[in-house]
Amino acid sequence: MGKSGIERIGVIGIGTMGSGIAQVCAQCGFDTVVYDIGETVLDRGLGIIKKSLERLVASFDKSGGEKGISAEARDTALSRLKTILSLSDLLDRDLIIEAAVEKADVKEELYQRLAGLGYDRLLVSNTSSISITRLAAAYGKPELFMGMHFMNPVAMQQGVEVIRGLLTSDETYKTIVALCHDLGKTEIPAEDKAGFGINRMWIPFVNEAVRVVEEGVMAPDEADKCTLCLGHRMGPLTTADYVGLDVILFICDVLVAEFGSAYTASPLLKRLVEAGQLGVKSGVGFYVWQDGKPVDVNPAVKRYRIK
Ligand code: NAI
Repeated sequence: MGKSGIERIGVIGIGTMGSGIAQVCAQCGFDTVVYDIGETVLDRGLGIIKKSLERLVASFDKSGGEKGISAEARDTALSRLKTILSLSDLLDRDLIIEAAVEKADVKEELYQRLAGLGYDRLLVSNTSSISITRLAAAYGKPELFMGMHFMNPVAMQQGVEVIRGLLTSDETYKTIVALCHDLGKTEIPAEDKAGFGINRMWIPFVNEAVRVVEEGVMAPDEADKCTLCLGHRMGPLTTADYVGLDVILFICDVLVAEFGSAYTASPLLKRLVEAGQLGVKSGVGFYVWQDGKPVDVNPAVKRYRIK
């Protein structure tokens, strides 16, 4: 058992983030179950986890054991991981990490159902922007609730924003910080204000990059390329495709509600989401994606120009 005292973890949602969170929990020795809404979604998510573990094994073999994980560690991680289709299978967990779609009503309903089933232990949300205090109220045990905002891709990114709601207890906070360490992560404390720290800074950057493209100042790949000169490892539009354009649009709306129109989503971002072009997860966003790699700029993005 690690310093947090937690042994059994439940993850809700096996999408971009939930799959990564479940993978890291299982890799770090936790008995892990993942819940999502359908068998097909769970199979797809499990496939993503397996591919990610395979990449780590390949890296281990290539680096002579310096990086990645061994084939044995992969098998042990997979043996600790189970997928489930019933919320009641989460009731024996010490902690539930919720990484369902970024919609307040979906998250609130999930917490109310869990509380109704009798779940009364720690619950954290991976939300990028929704008020932790608001979500805590839906759970009804605000002292046991807080934000644990992992970064994408979870297996590679070190930082985790830890966000206390107004009524989160000191004990809950200390346990979750200890869990960050058990997972090999570094906690980054943030207060419960829309977008917390990272998205408050990053979303305006993405939005402005989209405006640069839609005004015809630069093509998407050029806009991405020039930000590499700032020392970034990846440009904002490529990162946006990884994050999911629907997630970004939702965060823009939350920021507008708290801080005003400076955070309004650019029209091109809205049009792409309306068209169902959400980035890597749908195969097309600012770029066309094949086998996890951008192969071209989206032709619709190339054409779209407004002033
Ligand atoms: P996603 O769209 O890739 O996955 C969401 C998952 O939630 C899907 O598997 C979906 O089936 C599931 N879901 C929908 N309704 C559900 C319900 N009622 N019960 C259980 N599962 C349900 O979304 P993504 O990107 O993984 O985001 C999940 C959370 O993580 C959101 O709160 C988001 O803001 C946050 N986040 C996202 C980041 C990113 O880079 N995409 C980064 C950090 C946080």
